Order: sequence, then structure tokens, then C-alpha cells
Amino acid sequence: MSRLDIFIARMTSQRACIDFAVQETAGMTGPVFELGLGNGRTYHHLCEIVTGRDIFVFERAVESNPASTPPEERTMLGDVFDTLPKALERFGATASFIHADLGGHNLQKNDEFARKISPYVEPLLAAGGLMVASDRMYFDAMQEIEIPAGAVSGRCFIYRK
Ligand SMILES: C[S@@+](CC[C@H](N)C(=O)[O-])C[C@H]1O[C@@H](n2cnc3c(N)ncnc32)[C@H](O)[C@@H]1O
Repeated sequence: MSRLDIFIARMTSQRACIDFAVQETAGMTGPVFELGLGNGRTYHHLCEIVTGRDIFVFERAVESNPASTPPEERTMLGDVFDTLPKALERFGATASFIHADLGGHNLQKNDEFARKISPYVEPLLAAGGLMVASDRMYFDAMQEIEIPAGAVSGRCFIYRK
């Protein structure tokens, strides 16, 4: 598989899993959390398809395309290891959907990061809430569920609380 193939598989999987998770949680009212703004492509997609729920973005340095930059009052600026505990104090276990795309190119580092961040993410989700991640997560009580048609195995993971 070429790097282009891998990139396309990742993007296609991200969109298929996000679309699935937003649809599955459409009956829930709790906020949606986007972990890792980057260029803002997935945030922009969420803005297009999520209705009736606030979207909060967690990012340490906002450098997104101006067309997909979240408003300041819904940007949790800083390292997620600081901002996620603050979000738990503020929102409790209410998130209906969390999307995380925090990794880089080093797969081993991504896995180490996923192990560390998992216990910070799990308490934020409401019962029945979903998480979509670009890396395998390590949750205590959340179940991994099947990825939808169109997503490529190993490129995206979905978990339900
Ligand atoms: C791969 S990019 C996200 C791309 C985004 N999904 C898009 O569609 O444009 C990852 C982002 O996560 C952010 N990030 C990585 N580790 C972080 C941390 N510990 N705290 C906050 N943000 C972090 C990086 O700054 C980067 O902007």
C-alpha cells in the first residue's frame, strides 16, 4: 500500500466513522467534543452534519484554516491532559460523541499517547455515547463496535459507553 493509499484510507475511514457516530447519537443532546483541530477539516465536517448539539474543540495551538476555526468560547485551548479534566468538572459525563485525531506519523508514539489519554476520555461520555478515534484506545468499560461500511479496518476505531 502506498502512502497515498494509506492517507486516502484514513480520510475515507474518518468520514465514514464520524458520519456513522453522529447518526447513531442523533437522539442525544449532550455536547460533541473534537480532540485535535489541526487544519480543521474534521471539525468543519462535524459543523456540517451535527444539529442541535454544541461542538467543543480541544487543541493546544489553533492553526486551522480560517473557514474552519471554532469560536473562542467553544475552544478549549491547551494540552488535553489539562483541558479534559477541566471539561469533566464543567460538563460531567454528558458528551454524546467524542472524535479524537491527536496523533502524528509515529505509530508507536501514537499508541503510547492513546494508552495515556484513554482514562481522561472515558469519564466524559454519557451512557450510550460514542467515541471515534484514529488510534486504538484502552478503555475499562467501553466496548469496541464494528466500523461501518466504507471504513478500512485499523484506520479508525469506534467505542460505545
Ligand atoms: C492530525 S491533527 C488533527 C487533524 C484534524 N482532524 C483535521 O481534520 O484537520 C492533530 C492535532 O492534535 C493536536 N494535538 C496533539 N496532541 C495534543 C495535545 N496533547 N493537546 C492538545 N492538542 C494536541 C495537534 O496540535 C494537531 O493540531
